[in-house]
Formats: sequence, C-alpha cells, structure tokens
Amino acid sequence: MTRVIVVASGKGGVGKTTLAANIAVALAMLGKRVAVLDADIVMANLEIIMGLKNPPVALIDVLQNKLSIEDVMFEGPRGVKLIPAGITLNGFNEENMEMLKAALKEVPRDIEILVVDAPAGRDAAMVMDAGQEVLIVTSPEVSSVSDALKMKILAERMGAKVIGGVMNMVENTPQEVKVHEVEATLDVNVICKIPYDKNVKKALHYETPFVIKYPRSKSSQEVMKLAAGLIGKRYSPKYSLLSRFKEIFSI
Ligand SMILES: Nc1ncnc2c1ncn2[C@@H]1O[C@H](COP(=O)(O)OP(=O)(O)OP(=O)(O)O)[C@@H](O)[C@H]1O
Ligand SMILES: [Mg+2]
Repeated sequence: MTRVIVVASGKGGVGKTTLAANIAVALAMLGKRVAVLDADIVMANLEIIMGLKNPPVALIDVLQNKLSIEDVMFEGPRGVKLIPAGITLNGFNEENMEMLKAALKEVPRDIEILVVDAPAGRDAAMVMDAGQEVLIVTSPEVSSVSDALKMKILAERMGAKVIGGVMNMVENTPQEVKVHEVEATLDVNVICKIPYDKNVKKALHYETPFVIKYPRSKSSQEVMKLAAGLIGKRYSPKYSLLSRFKEIFSI
C-alpha cells in the first residue's frame, strides 16, 4: 500500500506547499517512486512550484466522479507524479471528502509514497484519514505554534499519526519560539528546522523546487535530511562549507 504523508499546518502561509513539493522531490532523488497531491482546492498553487502549466484535468474532476486519480497524474521534476488540485471556491464538502478518501486508495501501487499538501486550517481534517502520517509545519511564532497544536489534535482525531514537527523560516532571532518550546507545546519532536532562505523565493521565480535549483543551500540540505529520515536512511551532505558559501553569495 502507498504510504501517505500529509504536510499540514494550523496557520496559513508557513510553507506547507513549498515543503510538500520539495520533500516529494527529495524523496524521489533518494530513489523512491513518489507522487504529490495538491489538496488545497481553494488556493491551489503546488503546480506553480513544480513548473506544471495549465493542467487540463485535476483532482477536482476526481472528486466530481468524472475521472480516476490515475487520469490526473502529471509528470513532474525528477519523475515525481503531480496531482494538481484544480480550483473551486467552495472548499471541501462531506461528499468530496468521501470521494477523496476513496481516490487515495486508488493511487497506483507502484507509487511508494504520496505526499499531500493539505489546505490550511480546518479543511485539512477533510484530507486526513487513519493510517496516514502527518508532518506539522510551523513558523517560529507563538500564533503559528498554537495553531499547530490545534492541527495536531485535529489530525489525531481523524486517526492519523503525527510523526513530527517541522519548523520553517527560522531566523534565530531572540524573539522566536525555540525548538524545545515547540516540542513542549506540541508534545511532538521537531524533526526538521529550515532557515528563512531567500533561495526559496528565488526558486519559486524559476518554478523549480529549491532542492533542485539550489541543492547546496542549507534549506535544501535540511529537506534532504528530513526526506532521508522519513525513509530510514542517513543523508550525508555532499557539499562543502565553501560551496555553500559560494551559492549563498552567488559566486
Ligand atoms: N524557508 C523559507 N524561506 C523563505 N521563504 C519561504 C520559506 N518557506 C516558504 N517560503 C515562502 O513563504 C510563502 C508561503 O509559502 P507556502 O505557499 O508554501 O505556504 P503555505 O503554508 O502552503 O500557504 P497556504 O496556507 O496559503 O497554503 C511563499 O512565498 C514561499 O516561497
Ligand atoms: Mg499552500
């Protein structure tokens, strides 16, 4: 059965979509057969990060019982299959939720891992199900961490397993919430800490996941380490400090 890893957060804008795309590509770079699903049917943007232009069909067609999930899988970078959301302003309803849960069970068997980019807030519960693993993303701000706790509770209520917290956009300022405080609040280990990195936005401009565009950056290295950890591998960075320095200063 395909392993499903949901990337969720309480607060919006903390980097779920960016991380879902990059974790999926990182897993593929580590040799896994991966698909990534955009479950944000109101504010879909995973396809932009993955460089997919105007897909003719999308998840929404599956939820409306017009197509199967296999019909809406597109080829993305590094062989990752991308399932775009399509757009509806209405969000999920009960019927969609049942269709989505059924569709996730129809993901072709050769896909080893399906990464799901969850919508922010309560709609995320609509995509969560028993047997799934959940990564909770938070930025190092009090409001983001307290919303992350709500999402964790919601995920567990849906029967999913929260496997770790991911802190994103960390700048190490004195005002920021620290790793141990996040862990104490969520009662979950922080398994990845990604810095605020201007390369992340630059990669967006090129519509290329940052693990491909800027593989030596600290953010890419952290995502590679996270992906390796998810599949029980150890990742040893191939790049020296000097080459990272060069990338940071575009030398
Ligand atoms: N580590 C990072 N450093 C710098 N910018 C980042 C980082 N992670 C994400 N961003 C930027 O933050 C913005 C929000 O990211 P993203 O769209 O992935 O968040 P989201 O949680 O999916 O948002 P939403 O809740 O609206 O779906 C984007 O412009 C993205 O490029
Ligand atoms: Mg998003």
